[in-house]
Amino acid sequence: MITYKKIDPATAEYVAIGPADLSKGERRIVEIDGAAIAVFNIAGTLYAIADVCSHDDGPVAEGELVNGHEIECPRHGARFDVRTGGVLSFPAIVDIPAYPVKVENGEILVGLPPEGAG
Ligand code: FES
Repeated sequence: MITYKKIDPATAEYVAIGPADLSKGERRIVEIDGAAIAVFNIAGTLYAIADVCSHDDGPVAEGELVNGHEIECPRHGARFDVRTGGVLSFPAIVDIPAYPVKVENGEILVGLPPEGAG
């Protein structure tokens, strides 16, 4: 199993993706530098993952949320933990990237790896 390197929230470069008005259970899918990233509000906490399934590049974040914190890819049903990007079921066997998230001045900020790192 391949695990993506965790992004250190302390050194991440944060990008604003709009107002922090996501209700519990809602998601927002955005594009940052050509990469699709999805932010979820899970029980009041924000989490961000890449919107690219590690099985066959499906739009995983468009899938259904199950068991509170699991996202099920709409293409072939692989599940990932929204909180960590960790893969939970076949046919995927590789985690997807997860990003640190914070709220400042009413805006959601997603942390990307510092340029040149990783
Ligand atoms: S592309 Fe996501 S399970 Fe196949």
